[in-house]
Amino acid sequence: MDHAISGLGVAMERTFILLKPDAIKKGVVGEVISRLEKANLSIVGMKMLQLTEEMCREHYAHHVNKPFFQGLVKFMCSSAVICMVLEGDGAVEKVRELAGPTDPKKAPKGTIRGDFGTDVQVNIIHASDSKDTAEVELRRFFRDDEIFHRIGSFTKK
Ligand code: RTP
Ligand code: MG
Repeated sequence: MDHAISGLGVAMERTFILLKPDAIKKGVVGEVISRLEKANLSIVGMKMLQLTEEMCREHYAHHVNKPFFQGLVKFMCSSAVICMVLEGDGAVEKVRELAGPTDPKKAPKGTIRGDFGTDVQVNIIHASDSKDTAEVELRRFFRDDEIFHRIGSFTKK
């Protein structure tokens, strides 16, 4: 395991998130990041990039044959996105809880999707759904030397 190691010698959990085009267009990127930081999650990797259909096919492989897939690609490629690696205790589950259910109409107020999302597709944030998925997804978007540690003042790995 190559997760960051805390002062107690415990591997810190990491997760991958992606702020979707609607987060940028609605101007809520700062608010979303603020909620994540207040939940004691640290940003250890961050970049803005333009997704391609090929990247969507890989990232959303479980939806490639769904009728809404082309619409999803159009939405996800409609502007740049912001990708982040977050580190903290229980990071995967914590971010999923802060994000709320996929459909913002069913998401409680106080969750990111409940407060800022539009519909089941246009829902502000992607968050890895398990520790294993998180490792696959963060490696899809970040090289090793683009990920830092919060322990040791963000010294490079
Ligand atoms: P995400 O992967 O983006 O964090 O979302 P999730 O786990 O809550 O939901 P998932 O089933 O993995 O779906 C991925 C994204 O596909 C879009 N979607 N559209 N039109 C539809 O019925 C539909 N269903 C899913 C959403 O953008 C969803 O977040
Ligand atoms: Mg998902």
